[in-house]
Amino acid sequence: MPTESASSSRCGVVWARELVRDLAVAAKVPPGDAGRFADALVAADVAGIPTHGISRLNIYLRRIQAGLINPRARLAVRRRRGGVLVLDANNGLGQVQTLKALDKLVPLAREHGVAVATIRNSQHFGAVSYYCNRAAAQGMILIASTNGEPAVSPEGACQAFFGTNPLAASFPTGLGWPVKIDFATSIVARGNIIAAQKRGQRIPPGWALNLEGEPTTDAAAALAGTVLALGGHKGYALALMLEVLSGVLSGAAIGPAVGSMYKNMNRAQGVGHFLCLLDIAAFMDVSEFKQRVDQTIQGIKACRKRPGVSEILVPGERSHRRAQENHELGIPLEESTRAELKQLCKDLGVKFRLNPVDDLRPPAPRRRSLPRAAAHTFRGASSQSSRRGPTHQAHRWPQ
Ligand SMILES: NC(=O)c1ccc[n+]([C@@H]2O[C@H](COP(=O)([O-])OP(=O)(O)OC[C@H]3O[C@@H](n4cnc5c(N)ncnc54)[C@H](O)[C@@H]3O)[C@@H](O)[C@H]2O)c1
Repeated sequence: MPTESASSSRCGVVWARELVRDLAVAAKVPPGDAGRFADALVAADVAGIPTHGISRLNIYLRRIQAGLINPRARLAVRRRRGGVLVLDANNGLGQVQTLKALDKLVPLAREHGVAVATIRNSQHFGAVSYYCNRAAAQGMILIASTNGEPAVSPEGACQAFFGTNPLAASFPTGLGWPVKIDFATSIVARGNIIAAQKRGQRIPPGWALNLEGEPTTDAAAALAGTVLALGGHKGYALALMLEVLSGVLSGAAIGPAVGSMYKNMNRAQGVGHFLCLLDIAAFMDVSEFKQRVDQTIQGIKACRKRPGVSEILVPGERSHRRAQENHELGIPLEESTRAELKQLCKDLGVKFRLNPVDDLRPPAPRRRSLPRAAAHTFRGASSQSSRRGPTHQAHRWPQ
């Protein structure tokens, strides 16, 4: 998991949300949607996934400016049967449309025990666990995936076909944080290679092939070539399964037909998502489920440790610790991302306001009231006098 690097400095969580939201509003995203979008992006940074957080704001907003993302798109229901929804994002922001899809799925899952949505005509939607954690906070299990721009080659090929097709699911526990399983089916998420390129660093051997299909440690050559699938043929098979669910079944673009967020500034991405929501209460009491997950975690942690290992961690535990640290100290922001934010502010006429590390007070209260959706997302953000109040606790769980 990426940590703070020499080229990063910290900024307050509430300030970061405000700035991202203001920039999105300036880019014509409706205020309520902008609030949800900002929450999704900043949550990734808080959880220690900076590759899928604020560092992507620039490209999302540039694509809006280029007319490739519709900031006001409606989420359309194309088909519905029982707990199945076939949705069309109409080229809206992936984060916003996925959150709206989840809003539709929750009552369906409560009714049927399970509800499934596919979404077509969408975009890169960031860290998948953000949506899964939100479901876990409501006593539900969301199993989610997405396809993406071609980056990963099938076993034996040296041509990118699959996206890094991540798979995620989160499970509520009695511990105050969810078990969070969230990984790309490539050996690393492509964001790590983009981050290395931005920092001018080489990537470790074994991550990628260049255009000729030879192993490379050059980040630019890796981005031009292909990332390797996780675990060889097994990762390839998993990527194919997720491509079928997210791309084929949804009616979205498939494999190389998915547009590149960075390279194709002349066409929409056409990404597809797959969301399967289980209502735990249909299977057993949520409290019993949590107890059983906690028992499982205890069992895992009680395993005999390998030599040199001081602690066995459970997926989600590091993110939880990172979130606590980042709420406390502020989120690390790469210099390159800070520079992008400054440029965006200049271009969109927004005041650049990111507090220094030693001033973690949230921005001053605004006079206008937030629209309902934003008020929900930013619960208490404008009325807090301290970052450590209960409203911040309310933010922690979805990360
Ligand atoms: N939207 C997209 O198209 C897209 C594509 C690829 C990846 N992503 C996102 O990129 C992010 C990073 O993906 P990644 O593949 O680099 O994940 P990763 O390698 O950082 O982590 C993978 C999983 O391992 C767990 N984990 C890590 N270290 C652990 C430890 N020591 N003990 C126990 N569990 C541990 C994490 O909780 C996580 O569930 C994810 O949030 C993913 O959703 C998004």
